[in-house]
Amino acid sequence: MADYGNLIYGYDQKVPTKFGLKRYLNLDNAASTPPFKAVMKLIAAEGLYYSSIHRGAGYKSRYMTHRYEESREIVRDFVRADPDHDVVIFTKNTTDSINKIRHYLPYLPGESVIYTRLEHHSNELPWMNEKHFIVELKKDRLDLEQLETILKRNRGKVKLLAVTGASNVTGYLPPIHTLAEMAHSAGARILVDAAQLAPHRPITVYPAADPRHLDFLAFSGHKMYAPFGSGVLIGPKRLFSQSAPSQVGGGTVKAIDSQNVYWVDPPGVEEAGSPNVFGALAIAESCRVLNKIGWRKLIDHEQQLLEATLLGLKKIPGVTVYNESTTQRVGVISFNAAGIYHQIIAEALSEYGIGVRTGCFCARNYVKHLLGLDQTSSPTNYASQLPGMVRVSFGCYNNLSDVSNFLEALEEIVRRPNKIKLNNS
Ligand SMILES: Cc1ncc(COP(=O)(O)O)c(C=O)c1O
Repeated sequence: MADYGNLIYGYDQKVPTKFGLKRYLNLDNAASTPPFKAVMKLIAAEGLYYSSIHRGAGYKSRYMTHRYEESREIVRDFVRADPDHDVVIFTKNTTDSINKIRHYLPYLPGESVIYTRLEHHSNELPWMNEKHFIVELKKDRLDLEQLETILKRNRGKVKLLAVTGASNVTGYLPPIHTLAEMAHSAGARILVDAAQLAPHRPITVYPAADPRHLDFLAFSGHKMYAPFGSGVLIGPKRLFSQSAPSQVGGGTVKAIDSQNVYWVDPPGVEEAGSPNVFGALAIAESCRVLNKIGWRKLIDHEQQLLEATLLGLKKIPGVTVYNESTTQRVGVISFNAAGIYHQIIAEALSEYGIGVRTGCFCARNYVKHLLGLDQTSSPTNYASQLPGMVRVSFGCYNNLSDVSNFLEALEEIVRRPNKIKLNNS
């Protein structure tokens, strides 16, 4: 199996565990990945030239402006967006990108939004107060028949279909280009929340005339080895010229008089204030590294980790994996072990130096669905133990020995739950 650990900054970093100092085993990459060494190296090198961008006349300003704009092109090419039609806007993260789309919602034709039961709150809360429809799940997959019915009944009236590119709970990969074709044939646009997709699969935006075209795309640097506080929003250039920007301030204005403000063209109009130059450079470098490794290798590697983990989990008594039947998935697996509260499992794994996540992963409605809970139930229904799961999620640098270490630790915890002695208990 390929070994990508040498690409990761902090890969060998030891942390205190109940067995003494051990290499930290991060299985919470869906939350944030560690940085690529190449990203850290680049930032240190470019730091020598760090300067304000766009309006400075000095050498460093001009150089940094060039590097920033070049990063935009690298990101655009990473997802094969059309430079004549689409614009790459650097944002804070996926959440910020999606909130920007919400700002422009009034300028999209139609009256309603469709989103799905799978969504992370960042791609759900922005649409909840709009007239909306929710696509449910049928046998672990999006119910495309239901979507078809909604689109047929509301032809020409749907502004946006908002859908995750990959679930942060189960790794499930919705068929985004089929969904794009369905949305477009009903006159709607599609937004793909690619927070989990971008680090795991190649993405193609396709030209606007192609029915598979992704109208909007959002993703975050910190989930793809570039943790410098930047995200990406890609969308149609024309839309971002239709109103005042989502945030106003320096950098957004071409001219101003006593009556009017004249906004700059996108992307500048949506990048109010001093841009996060290092964030942009970091994402571009990460795109370069991922492309260099090659997607076929990355996907095969991840598939091996997934198969070994799913097989191992099957052998541990009382473990339930959610959406186990999903074959099209990225490296994210959520599970529970009978009789042990999810948070206790995560805390016990932490004693072994293994980092996982528990709870509802900001996708409460999907988690409730998977747990078979009533969608109308609220936290007040659950005394002190909130429903949830344990999630393991892989980065490209994880390997089969990480999987064995995790499975061994979990087995020990599950077989002897009363031996679990947490530091704080
Ligand atoms: C599917 C999905 N969408 C959106 C987000 C939000 O990303 P960010 O916190 O970087 O804005 C996350 C974060 O976990 C996610 O997994």
